Amino acid sequence: MGAPESTDEVKRVNVRYHDLAAADYDSKWGIGYGELGRRQVAAKLTRALGRRPARFERALEIGAGTGYFTLNLLRAGVIADAVATDISSGMLSVLAGWAEELGLEVETVRAEAEQLPFPAGSFDLVFGHAVLHHLPDIERAFAEFARVLRPGGTLAFCGEPSRYGDRLATVPKRAALVAAPAWRRILRAPPRRHEGDPACGHDPPAREVGGLSEEQVLEGVVDVHAFTPTGLDRHARRAGLEAVRISGQELTAGWFGWANRTLEATAEPEQLPRLWYHWAHRGYLTLQRLDRAVLEPLLPASVFYNLLISARRPDRPAGDGATVPA
Ligand SMILES: C[S@@+](CC[C@H](N)C(=O)[O-])C[C@H]1O[C@@H](n2cnc3c(N)ncnc32)[C@H](O)[C@@H]1O
Repeated sequence: MGAPESTDEVKRVNVRYHDLAAADYDSKWGIGYGELGRRQVAAKLTRALGRRPARFERALEIGAGTGYFTLNLLRAGVIADAVATDISSGMLSVLAGWAEELGLEVETVRAEAEQLPFPAGSFDLVFGHAVLHHLPDIERAFAEFARVLRPGGTLAFCGEPSRYGDRLATVPKRAALVAAPAWRRILRAPPRRHEGDPACGHDPPAREVGGLSEEQVLEGVVDVHAFTPTGLDRHARRAGLEAVRISGQELTAGWFGWANRTLEATAEPEQLPRLWYHWAHRGYLTLQRLDRAVLEPLLPASVFYNLLISARRPDRPAGDGATVPA
């Protein structure tokens, strides 16, 4: 996590980093819009809600990125009418490209989570994935989510880093760094040359600081929170939401994934055998199933790598203790 920055600076850096990351974002994170993508997203939303999602007529995604959640949920028929917002226009243009290719209709709006350009009570579902930890003014953002939800509407956010889960994930990352030279020898993979090295044929990065590309430098600054279950719960309740539900996801799969990503980052990606990617992918999916079936029902939310939250905007008017924004 980078040094604390002013609210405007965090937003500016988020725009710059995600604009730079947009083109390669899907391949970096293994995002897809086929059967697997649909299943992953539906499983995450089901875990957040604690039940299989009903169909939501009008849905708003916050920090939609390249469309992982919105497009997969549209294709799965979980949402009917979608508005995808993001602070980065680079990410939204990749999303719009995918929507066109998949024949899906999505309204894209460049907007900050803390200042949503929609009237109160506009949406049945307000949702997001891996976005809350980027928001410098989280209280204001939750107040906005509650405002644009219709009474009785649902809020669901998935894939937020948990404070303890994040700390636990440093163990496989460190172990992978120690094991990396031996791992490369076994796979006969040469060490990675610097991304900006013109000798490797890539375009040099826009700017370099201390040997790192601008994107790598910014990556350390864009994440401004890791959450505890209690802290997330408090944000939702302060915004006047009720039926707050916090759960955790990914433990062994997260460790495995982080270890592999750390190893891969030390080698030239094209020099790694296809079999390696196959093993990493299959292993990750197997451990995800283990986490889901065995560990998630047993262990407290705080130990998992990701936290999920769902809540509801009350049906009743504010005045009995709930502070629902108008
Ligand atoms: C880690 S990415 C996740 C993207 C997408 N939800 C996914 O799961 O692939 C976080 C996204 O949040 C967006 N973001 C960051 N700060 C934001 C803010 N203040 N308001 C709205 N979106 C923001 C970023 O531009 C980026 O697209």
